Amino acid sequence: MKVLIIGSGGREHAIAKKMLTSPQVTDVFCAKGNPGMKNDGIQLVDIAEDNHIDLISFVKEKGIDWTFVGPEIPLLNGIVDDFEAAGLKIFGPNKAAAMIEGSKEFAKKIMVDNDIPTADYEAFTDYQKACDYVKEKGAPIVIKADGLAAGKGVTVAMTLEEALHALKEMMTDHRFGESGDKVVVEEFLAGEEFSLLAFVKNEKVYPMVISQDHKRAYDKDQGPNTGGMGAYSPVPQISTEIVDAAVENILKRAAKGMMNNDTPFTGILYAGLIATDSGAKVIEFNARFGDPETQVVLPRLVSDLAQIVDDLLNGYEPDLIWSEQAAVGVVLAAEGYPNDYQKGMSIPSFDDQVTVYYAGVADDQGMTVASGGRVLLVEAEADTIEDAQAKVYRALEGAATEGYFYRKDIGAKAIK
Ligand code: AMP
Ligand code: GLY
Repeated sequence: MKVLIIGSGGREHAIAKKMLTSPQVTDVFCAKGNPGMKNDGIQLVDIAEDNHIDLISFVKEKGIDWTFVGPEIPLLNGIVDDFEAAGLKIFGPNKAAAMIEGSKEFAKKIMVDNDIPTADYEAFTDYQKACDYVKEKGAPIVIKADGLAAGKGVTVAMTLEEALHALKEMMTDHRFGESGDKVVVEEFLAGEEFSLLAFVKNEKVYPMVISQDHKRAYDKDQGPNTGGMGAYSPVPQISTEIVDAAVENILKRAAKGMMNNDTPFTGILYAGLIATDSGAKVIEFNARFGDPETQVVLPRLVSDLAQIVDDLLNGYEPDLIWSEQAAVGVVLAAEGYPNDYQKGMSIPSFDDQVTVYYAGVADDQGMTVASGGRVLLVEAEADTIEDAQAKVYRALEGAATEGYFYRKDIGAKAIK
């Protein structure tokens, strides 16, 4: 099989690398990918994610069997709709189904209609009404831009001032552009977070092992929210009962709810959850693999990822087997991220005990250099989270990381 992956980050690197381990896969192309992927034998395609016409021509020319979409933006731009209209196989939700990620209000409606546990909320387009509601509810309270904001459109306000400031930034200062014209104001949920992802084909749900992301920039969950600074899997402090209940009451109800809403979902469904005293509740749905969760979940997949996708696309039951090993991944970010950050640093090398997934890197006259906020992720597996964590930090400590920073506590919550 020849497959094409859409996207260019660490998540896509992990997906592409896993696909290449399949005995049935001869070629993995990635559009656009990044130069850090080349060493792994992934073939880069210089066509933009939103250039559906050229991507479709490329797939036809090369005889690619199917395409897998990494990020949310192409999904919301209707890449699945366009490929399917051209008679091509592609794995991911169409534009209508991707709205489960594209609009927080749409997602909330699916949850409310299908009895899926989530935080109470109210949506606003009127700035004054939003302020009045926030004043009535008081802090702590959560303010979310309705549309996409690269994981940064959420303020968990511990004080009323913070909440009102966030509303002003989103609704009157347009910090997130149109994404903030509508805001969702949500009840604050206390508890530990985890990510539960599944392969979904219409009403059928095939869950993956759970993981935990670290969204704040600095140790002990301090600093601004980011796209994710590291992750690990499994998450032993979340019980099997909580996970099993979440599969039933959250993922399966969502898949069924999307069918009943005439927006059937096929692809990767990602539930961002908080384990509250009364069970897991949803804080967000995404319509794709998580980044950096993928970089610690896929290394634990024993079965053949390309076969799973192929089975789902062709109407067969996929076979999912997971390893008992623990995986830890730590993001190496450019100093300054998630605000203005340094660029152009050389890429450090790491010992051979770890796997490196590249994200924000570019080619500068034949040299791979840092070009994005999250530059790469260093991942390792071991029998325990402690051992996997030790491998990752040993590799990072032994590397030349001037101009970069990374969190020192990824996985710490799992180690008592
Ligand atoms: P999101 O982009 O929706 O994942 O939100 C970013 C982060 O804000 C999450 O990872 C949580 O840490 C936090 N968060 C979001 N919603 C809530 C909520 N209702 N209660 C508490 N924390 C939340
Ligand atoms: N790691 C969070 C996300 O992918 O949305």
